[in-house]
Amino acid sequence: MDLILTPSSPLLGKRIAEEIKIKIARVQFKRFPDGELYVRVDSENSEHLVVCSLTSSDDLVILKLLFDTLKGEIILVVPYMGYARQDREFMRGEAISIRAIARNLEEKAERIITVNIHSEKAKENFKKLLDLNAMPLIGKYYKEKDLIMISPDKGSAERVKVAAKVASCDWDWLEKRRIDAQTVEISTKRIDVENKNVVIVDDIISTGGTVVEATKKLYELGAKRVECACVHAVLADFAAVKLLSSGIAEIVATDTVEKIFSKISVAELVKEAVLENLK
Ligand code: R5P
Repeated sequence: MDLILTPSSPLLGKRIAEEIKIKIARVQFKRFPDGELYVRVDSENSEHLVVCSLTSSDDLVILKLLFDTLKGEIILVVPYMGYARQDREFMRGEAISIRAIARNLEEKAERIITVNIHSEKAKENFKKLLDLNAMPLIGKYYKEKDLIMISPDKGSAERVKVAAKVASCDWDWLEKRRIDAQTVEISTKRIDVENKNVVIVDDIISTGGTVVEATKKLYELGAKRVECACVHAVLADFAAVKLLSSGIAEIVATDTVEKIFSKISVAELVKEAVLENLK
């Protein structure tokens, strides 16, 4: 089996190849002046492991082009499954984006491995999906540190509970109301963070709006220091600046989306899943 690196996940792809001890195939990606993408793969192998986070629409085109040229079996690792937040028809006539993506990917991949897909609802659209949980890795990163983990909403509380158990620390959650894609409202519930080091833990940080509002509330409640950790550091536009200028002391993320904040690698987690799948 050869591993195919793609522009969205070169570092994680390389780490996975090293973990599994498989060859990285020679690939060429280029963009024509009109914006169209071009892909060429130099591999005679009949089995491929493709590692490609869906961080933009280009990634989807790249996958379609790879599917066209790769012969034989494909195991597809999508560390960050973009489009998963549009997992239902919120308003009549809307496309269920993740359903369209699932259909596309499953047409060619034998197996799809992802990490913390956004919701159970999103997962239901796949037949060949294995969804890995990186929360224990976040827990391990904070093990034995003097802190409390906070989920910015009740929806993420179960995930945070998993991380907190591994870290052996307390945890709690806030109440969040989403107003639109950029705006959220965080309200207080009885929560004891006075004089404590707090880590806000979420699956995705996208615009940073959720974490910024949660940070404000936590400082109001007397927190000593607030940092944030997530699986997928999407960090759209100026989110990192927004976070670091709002009093967030540190941003910690995995390498499902490759950013300078990717201090935790999911490579070993993915390796185990791939090897299990090859048995
Ligand atoms: C929402 O359900 C997710 O768990 C995240 O809280 C959300 O995606 C974060 O988005 P943003 O950073 O744009 O507030």
